[in-house]
Amino acid sequence: MKIVVIGAGYVGITLSCLTEFGHEVTMLGRDKEKAARIARGVSPIYEPGLEEVLRAGIKKGLLKSTTDYSVVKDADVIFICVGTPSRDDGSIDLSQVETCSKSIGEQMRESGGYKVVVVKSTCLPGTTTDVVIPTVEKASGKKAGEDFGACMNPEFLREGSGVYDFMNPDKIVIGGIDSASQKVLSDLYSGFDQKFPRIFTDTNTAEMIKYGNNAMLATRISFMNELANICEHYHADVKEVSRAMGIDSRIGPKFLNAGAGFGGSCFPKDVKALISAAKKAGVKPSLLEEVMKINDSQPERMVDLAEKTIGDLTDKKVSILGLAFKSDTDDMRDSRSTVVIQSLLRKHAKVRAYDPKAMENARGMFDNMVTFCASKEECVKDADLVMVMTEWDEFKNMELSSINAPIIDGRRIIDPEKVAQRGLVYRGIGWKDNFRGGRP
Ligand SMILES: NC(=O)c1ccc[n+]([C@@H]2O[C@H](COP(=O)([O-])OP(=O)(O)OC[C@H]3O[C@@H](n4cnc5c(N)ncnc54)[C@H](O)[C@@H]3O)[C@@H](O)[C@H]2O)c1
Repeated sequence: MKIVVIGAGYVGITLSCLTEFGHEVTMLGRDKEKAARIARGVSPIYEPGLEEVLRAGIKKGLLKSTTDYSVVKDADVIFICVGTPSRDDGSIDLSQVETCSKSIGEQMRESGGYKVVVVKSTCLPGTTTDVVIPTVEKASGKKAGEDFGACMNPEFLREGSGVYDFMNPDKIVIGGIDSASQKVLSDLYSGFDQKFPRIFTDTNTAEMIKYGNNAMLATRISFMNELANICEHYHADVKEVSRAMGIDSRIGPKFLNAGAGFGGSCFPKDVKALISAAKKAGVKPSLLEEVMKINDSQPERMVDLAEKTIGDLTDKKVSILGLAFKSDTDDMRDSRSTVVIQSLLRKHAKVRAYDPKAMENARGMFDNMVTFCASKEECVKDADLVMVMTEWDEFKNMELSSINAPIIDGRRIIDPEKVAQRGLVYRGIGWKDNFRGGRP
């Protein structure tokens, strides 16, 4: 099939994986330089395995990259993968979706053949039917369900393992306005192993499935953070609690990590959008509001712990290990490290930072108030306090000999035995201090 992907960001660029199934994929972005780099096989983001996919697609002649919307004329399927950021009040900003829907429609006005417009961006229920379709219809003069099809096909990949997740999805959700649209998308995914469940539904339900997914995962994290705060008071260890809870087959082990809270481009914005949509619908989103409140307070709890550990932070050298919102990505959007660093700067700490991949994205965010280091060793040298903010393997396995300061670990990734051998203070939210765990 001939596929056009609009928006070559984290999600859009990962759709280059469709070339592995023989589809012709054209990335359609706004930035000419970025488009030229993609055409040479250079990924605009850091994502393990992605450049190999890009280069293989280019070699087979299946992957192209452009900023010229006329490629829509020849497409069978057009994926909308543009951003759906939060407005200041938390509601969803659909301007990118509207702009590209209009551009799709304008190209469709001048072309024939049945095409399916697929929304992959995370959008609230009703967006495909009430925003995308009317905009495409108006610009094209064509009718959805007759001249063109429309689907909502939410994406569940995790940054850092995007290629793997895209190729091995837990589920493929195909929300369509009719069975003809669903059939095209189903054919497009026919090369994927049949063991991955396909869920055929309407577009509103498909849109809500994505919000349900993200809101549930965010809720689990905030739940564990609340439990961690209670654990601290009763000298219980939240890590052991979550490990034991996760063994229960009714609960499962994922997304039960207490710590600095969730960040990234999806959870905070999607929970806020759902809260705003609920209110608009007259539903009181009490639980979701608490999920956000707890999450917003976690970075401050990290800074409280820092003060409890080394006292007044004025002029103290605090080393931040990890800036990306999670490991294996360079994405800094809504990263908890940003909030922690801002708070440390307000308290006049001298902040140094290191991240294996996110340094470029982080530079410029702090008005030269943060010293960016070339390595973790340089970052922790002579520190008064070390704070681990991202669960990079590089930090998990790091040699501790260069650290002579207490460590506050927002991700609980360092082996407590190794820290104990060095005689260092090792603390985190909801832990027993210097907890070693294991059998007696
Ligand atoms: N990042 C994730 O892990 C993830 C996972 C699942 C779903 N999503 C959802 O997918 C959507 C995209 O997320 P992302 O992280 O890839 O965003 P992103 O900001 O990385 O990428 C969006 C891209 O769209 C481009 N764009 C915007 N308007 C355009 C237009 N009119 N024409 C061409 N290009 C245009 C932007 O330049 C940008 O490159 C969002 O709705 C997000 O919630 C993201």
